[in-house]
Amino acid sequence: MTTTITIANQKGGVGKTTIAVNLAHGLVQRGKRVLLVDFDPQGQCATILGLKPESGTFNLLVAESPLPQVIRSTDRKNLFVVLGDRKTATAQTVLNVQRTPINFTHQKLVGPAADDKIDYIVIDTSPSVGELQEQALWAADGVLIPCAVDYLATDGVFNIAVTLKRIHDEFKWQGRILGILPTFYDAITRESRATLKDLQNRFSGLLLPAIHRATVLRECAVEGKTIFELAPESRAAQQYNELVDFVLNWSKSPR
Ligand SMILES: Nc1ncnc2c1ncn2[C@@H]1O[C@H](COP(=O)(O)OP(=O)(O)OP(=O)(O)O)[C@@H](O)[C@H]1O
Ligand SMILES: [Mg+2]
Repeated sequence: MTTTITIANQKGGVGKTTIAVNLAHGLVQRGKRVLLVDFDPQGQCATILGLKPESGTFNLLVAESPLPQVIRSTDRKNLFVVLGDRKTATAQTVLNVQRTPINFTHQKLVGPAADDKIDYIVIDTSPSVGELQEQALWAADGVLIPCAVDYLATDGVFNIAVTLKRIHDEFKWQGRILGILPTFYDAITRESRATLKDLQNRFSGLLLPAIHRATVLRECAVEGKTIFELAPESRAAQQYNELVDFVLNWSKSPR
């Protein structure tokens, strides 16, 4: 069975892409076949993996290319990608104008990926709202909401929660919030500690262990490597491994 996980927060720079790429590669390390899909016009999933952005998402959703035509293998065995680039912004506009049904992305992506024996689809989204983001949320079995533990961190989480409630009520979304993942945590700063506490109070049942601020994650992006390649012994790698454990367990539980 294929499990689809969408990484979403309308707030920018909260660690979405870093999480999408490292979660995808972490699942691969546990023997899973994983498809990483970039729904962000910034095309950064490619950059973090040391690849060149391309118009896979646009071709899938607008040019109507079937999934096998836009899927790419990577140097990492069992890690497959549908890459994005600036044309994804055009896809966003076209989908908004055409008012495609909310299950369109699910149809184009999930069924064909299951045929290809993909265990996990991980969708990275952009920091904006629109048809593309909503379709990515609707396609998800689980939505992972990263949240940088800084000022106004909870606003982004609330916004996504409101959108999810709406697509559940209006369009019978069947998925769940997989978890809220605090990122950029820095135990030394009072702001980090206070924000984490606030998140714990508001979302206790959904809050996952925090990913700490770690310069090595920035270096990964520069080097085009995942944390498991660049620094497998680091605390960041350990924290990502814990996230992978959580996701593996979560996807075993009944929907
Ligand atoms: N835990 C972390 N510690 C330090 N730096 C991090 C951490 N996570 C991500 N970064 C860095 O912070 C920057 C923003 O991260 P990332 O691109 O993953 O966020 P994003 O939410 O995808 O941003 P956008 O909303 O623009 O798509 C990147 O340079 C990334 O390398
Ligand atoms: Mg991003």
